[in-house]
Amino acid sequence: TKYWKIDKIKDDHKIAMEEAAQLIKDQEVVAFPTETVYGLGADATNEQAVAKIFVAKGRPSDNPLIVHVADEHQIEQYVTSIPDIARNLIKAFMPGPLTIILKSNGKIAKNVTAGLDTVAVRIPDHPIALELLRSANLPLAAPSANVSGKPSPTKADHVFHDLNGKIAGIVDGGATGVGLESTVIDCTSEIPVILRPGGITIEDLKQVIGEVMLDPALTKTEDQPKAPGMKYNHYQPDAPLWLINGDANFFQDQINQLVEAGKKVGVMGSVELKSEIQAKMIISCGTRQDLKDIAIHLYDTLRAFKQTDVDIILCETFVETGVGQAIMNRLNKAATRKITQD
Ligand code: TXA
Ligand code: MG
Repeated sequence: TKYWKIDKIKDDHKIAMEEAAQLIKDQEVVAFPTETVYGLGADATNEQAVAKIFVAKGRPSDNPLIVHVADEHQIEQYVTSIPDIARNLIKAFMPGPLTIILKSNGKIAKNVTAGLDTVAVRIPDHPIALELLRSANLPLAAPSANVSGKPSPTKADHVFHDLNGKIAGIVDGGATGVGLESTVIDCTSEIPVILRPGGITIEDLKQVIGEVMLDPALTKTEDQPKAPGMKYNHYQPDAPLWLINGDANFFQDQINQLVEAGKKVGVMGSVELKSEIQAKMIISCGTRQDLKDIAIHLYDTLRAFKQTDVDIILCETFVETGVGQAIMNRLNKAATRKITQD
């Protein structure tokens, strides 16, 4: 696996980007930073290249990938049409952490869309991602650059840990910005449907297009989710994660019970929680006052428990406003159990 560290100030970045783009053109897969999480990219028009993504990640082939493009004009090349609502979304949020689902015109490789007649597209808001897209001059199919089932990578280290030796290259552009994946919105129905909450919040979307619906699967766990990928286990750390919904005393009781039963307990939560409870191992992921800060550190914190020997991770819950909705969506998927105070 080739590794390029890109420091914006230095001049060598052009050479690195050209090398990375050449690997893409040679049908190889390369990991690169976006503003959300690191992506694992391959030529979205080439089935053999795309197949390598599924192999490297161990990803089920019925879970379609997002196609990354450099601009709106490039979106037009792969869809039958762009409805007005989608145009407005593109104008308002792209480049940025939003993915739109449109009707595919069939020019994207079949294994990218998992045989669906729709395609997910987004324009990443990251200089390295955009430069790679322009240099390769190809649409890039790119899921998050983690092994399937693990937390998405927000640092090149995470990609290296999961995929070194399995992919052609890693472009290290430092830590990503948002820390959670893009919001996925289906624009093929009259009223757009949010399939995955993410960096762009529902409040943001409503301001631009008025009515939006939430995929019922996001609120009712018994329903089959519509985004094919949402049915798999996701974001799992190396020890079971339990979500604790209650006050500090309740949280402390949960810790004490497990410790008494001989378990090594790790706690994940805000700096506020950290100041309110006692435990041997507490890793903080930011302040409750700023959910964006929690989002940025969420996956890195989930991964940080790997270096510890905890048997179980207890994590607090967060309010589901703004990006809190995406945070709780990911934590609910990562968790194997939820305990709520009466
Ligand atoms: O922020 C992101 O979106 C990152 C970065 C790398 O850009 N990418 C990412 O890709 O999260 P991935 O493959 O991990 O997630 C793609 C999501 C899955 O939930 C998948 O099921 C859904 O998008 N998806 C893709 N194509 C779809 C389609 N045609 N219809 C419905 N859902 C689709
Ligand atoms: Mg993913």
